[in-house]
Amino acid sequence: MQVNECVTERAGAEPWDYTGNRMTEMVALISSVSRGMPVDVAIDGPAQETWEQGKEIYYTRYGQLELACANCHEDNYDNMIRADHLSQGQINGFPTYRLKNGKLNAVHDRFKGCVRDTRAETFAPGSPEFVALELYVASRGNGLSVEGPSVRN
Ligand code: HEC
Repeated sequence: MQVNECVTERAGAEPWDYTGNRMTEMVALISSVSRGMPVDVAIDGPAQETWEQGKEIYYTRYGQLELACANCHEDNYDNMIRADHLSQGQINGFPTYRLKNGKLNAVHDRFKGCVRDTRAETFAPGSPEFVALELYVASRGNGLSVEGPSVRN
């Protein structure tokens, strides 16, 4: 959102898609120069309401499988889910270059894939719901180092 504010307000250009190539490449560049710095997102003040909304989404069960993010990434991290080793679902390594599709993947694209795996209709990349979820998930990683861009399968 900050990048787009600069693109529109200061460069006078059209906004970039939230998970489009340009945006994802720019976020990768910013992450690469922030490597090693601690993740440190605000969850109070003006961010608090959005953070609470994101938290609620994280713990809500979606889809035919009735699974919440927390059921996999909090209750079962380190376990195998079929061929995948479940992680805590942190986003400090984003954007991630995925071998699966041979390109950089934005946070919201990963969220979309995870929600779809529960056989639910997903929120759209860039939607207020995913923005709130992104803030909440980022806050769960407060104190971890920025590691993006990184490689995943
Ligand atoms: C059915 C289990 C399941 C659910 C529910 C699920 N995920 Fe995932 N998620 C996975 C698997 C499997 C992977 C790939 C292995 C890994 O990184 O944990 C993954 C990967 C991720 C990653 C990438 C982590 C990395 O370091 O590359 C993020 C971020 C993530 N999930 C967030 C979420 C969020 C947010 C939700 C809720 C909207 C969610 N997941 C729901 C199974 C799940």
